[in-house]
Amino acid sequence: MKGTAIGGKTRICGVMGDPVAHSVSPAMHNAAFRELGLDYAYLPFNVGADGLAGAVEGMRALNMVGMNVTIPHKVAVIPLLDEVDPLAQQIGAVNVIHNKGGRLIGSNTDAEGFLRLLEGHGIQARGMRVAVFGAGGAARAVCFALASRGAEITILNRTADKAAGCAAEMAERTGRAFEALETNPANLARALAKADLLVNATSIGMAPGADKSPVSRELLDRRHTVVDIVYNPIKTMLVRDAEKAGAVTIGGLDMLAWQGALAFEIWTGRAAPFDVMRRAAARAVKSHEE
Ligand code: ATR
Repeated sequence: MKGTAIGGKTRICGVMGDPVAHSVSPAMHNAAFRELGLDYAYLPFNVGADGLAGAVEGMRALNMVGMNVTIPHKVAVIPLLDEVDPLAQQIGAVNVIHNKGGRLIGSNTDAEGFLRLLEGHGIQARGMRVAVFGAGGAARAVCFALASRGAEITILNRTADKAAGCAAEMAERTGRAFEALETNPANLARALAKADLLVNATSIGMAPGADKSPVSRELLDRRHTVVDIVYNPIKTMLVRDAEKAGAVTIGGLDMLAWQGALAFEIWTGRAAPFDVMRRAAARAVKSHEE
C-alpha cells in the first residue's frame, strides 16, 4: 500500500454530524487516499445544530476540499450552501459538500450509491415491485433512485402520515405512482406477497437493537432480494433471516461504501478504490462491535 504523511500541502476533508464518534467514514476515506497515494486527510467533526453555520463558514475559511454531512444536518445545511445540485434538491437532502474554488456545492450520493449497489449485484430495478421500509431521509434517497429506474414502489412506515407524505412528495417529484401503507402485520403480508425487492431504510436492527427486524421471518421468501442499509452489525437480523429463507441478500456495507466512493470521486476527481473502501469500512465496523 502506498501512503503519504500529513504535510504543508495536505488537503483536508471530513465529516460533520452529531454524533460522529462511531463514524467509519474517516477509516474508509483515509484508506482510499493511502491506496492512491493522494495527499489528503479526512477528519471527524462533532458539530451540533448551533455550530452548523459556523462549521460551513469554517470550511471555506480553512480552504477544506470537502465534507460529508450526516445526521442531523442533511436538510438544515441546504440554505447555507452556494449551490445544491438538482438531484440533491429533488431528494431534499445533502450528504456531500465540495469546496470548488471557494464555492460550496452540495450533492447527494445516497441515491446514486443505491443504484451502484444494485448494478454491482446485477439487479435491474426496471419493472421490479419494491417494498421500502421507512419514510425518512434514507428512504427518500432509495425511493428516488428506484423510481428513476422505473420500479413500482410501496412505502411502509410505522407512522402512516409520514408514509403518505413521503409517497406524495416522491410521486410529485418523480412523476410515478407510489403506494403508502402503515406498517402492521396485514399490510406487511400483503406488500411482501407481491414484492420482488425489499429495502430496509429504517434504523430497525441497528446495534444495540440488533435482535430486531422490520419483518417477521415467515414473510420472507426465496423469491425476494433483500437490501438492508443498516451496517452495524454487518449481518443484521433481517439479512440473517432472509439468508435462511433462501433470498438474495445485500447488507448495509455496500451502500455505505458506494456513497463514500462517489463522494471521494467528487473531491479528488479520481476513480475510487471501492474494494479498499469497503474492506476498511468493514474493519472499522468490526472494531466498534468488539
Ligand atoms: P434517516 O435520515 O436515517 O432515514 P429519519 O429521517 O429519522 O432517519 O427516519 C427514520 C425512519 O426509521 C423513519 O421512517 C422511522 O419511522 P417513523 O416515521 O414512524 O418515526 C423509522 N424507524 C426508526 N426507528 C423505528 C422503530 N423502532 N420502529 C419502526 N420504525 C422506526
